Amino acid sequence: MSIFTGKRIVLGISGGIAAYKAADLARQLGKAGADVHCVLTEGGAHFVTPITFQALTGNPAWTDAWDSRQSRNMAHIELTRGADLLLVAPATADVMAKLAHGMADDLLTTLALARECPLAVCPAMNRQMWENPATQRNLAQLRADGIAVFGPASGEQACGEVGMGRMLEPLEIVAEVAAFFTPKRLAGRKVLLTAGPTFEPLDPVRGITNISSGKMGFALARACADAGAEVTLVAGPVSQPTPRGVNRIDVQTALQMRNAVLANVMHADVFIGVAAVADYRPADAAEHKLKKTGSGGMTIELVQNPDILAEVAALPNPPFCIGFAAESQNLDEYAAAKRAKKRVPLLVGNLVQDGMGGDDNRVVLFDDAGRHELPQAPKDEVAQAIVAHFARMLA
Ligand code: C5P
Repeated sequence: MSIFTGKRIVLGISGGIAAYKAADLARQLGKAGADVHCVLTEGGAHFVTPITFQALTGNPAWTDAWDSRQSRNMAHIELTRGADLLLVAPATADVMAKLAHGMADDLLTTLALARECPLAVCPAMNRQMWENPATQRNLAQLRADGIAVFGPASGEQACGEVGMGRMLEPLEIVAEVAAFFTPKRLAGRKVLLTAGPTFEPLDPVRGITNISSGKMGFALARACADAGAEVTLVAGPVSQPTPRGVNRIDVQTALQMRNAVLANVMHADVFIGVAAVADYRPADAAEHKLKKTGSGGMTIELVQNPDILAEVAALPNPPFCIGFAAESQNLDEYAAAKRAKKRVPLLVGNLVQDGMGGDDNRVVLFDDAGRHELPQAPKDEVAQAIVAHFARMLA
């Protein structure tokens, strides 16, 4: 189940050029599992028609407080009844001003004033409008009223100027909303993770690595941050985007990963070793590219890498340690043995064929209470379930 499953989101679209992105936002929220109901201001409907939102969400789109489709003519109240969030994207400077002052002169602003659910805005405007003291005053007022503000970002604007005021991209907004809905089970906790493969150089262009994509570790970093933790992620060479709010340290080799972990572990309450650390590295990395010599084979001498997880778990005052075990067979037996050997309270086991490199994973959690199997699911959902599990153990 996604965090969006069963969530009713009323999406308000006000009159800015970023309204075209709101169409994709409506689609992405629906794809994530939310039930999306769109309300356009008159300005919003000048940019994109209600029909577009109706087609994308499968629900009627609304523009008029006097719309007779709503029974008892109470559209301004009933649309947000039972809603989990009123999300205004784009939120123009004008709409922010109205929301900050409790004005209610159209369907969207009336809904905002009459709502029982939380309200979030995604500002979108020209950089000078954003920097204007009046907008900044309104922004401060919205925050003081407990309204969530997602963005804006800085960058090229529709008017050709560059600066602060661009609306976040639809998927960034979906990530913000997911974080907003996530219970803050790890509030006040500091989490340190490793993720991805390591790369152990043989020469300047070659090395030993593995097929870890980093997806599981990044999903866990995201889930921990969404749950309110302060997260530091030590990442091997992967092409994953940094999750919002996560402090990322990029490394290549196991030794670099170990150093980065040891430099940060004293602040951590939780350490999660998700990385597929190479067990061995070439004894010597050649300074120059190795040349093919003759027709015979070649022998490479390997030396063992330190076990980062075991080292952290053996510290005098260790954080709560969580290990991963990717096995190709005998998962229960190997995982239990690994948990005992590395002395970690929680070990997440999976069969490589169930997870490595893919978007889904199926894992089994091993702790003192025994084994706890999670259903196959996208890695983000598996990560949320793992967080819920260890947050209970921490509590
Ligand atoms: O022994 P194995 O590599 O299967 O153990 C996997 C677990 O140990 C993972 O949590 C992994 O991140 C961690 N590990 C480590 N340093 C190593 C090898 C594994 O932290 N050198």
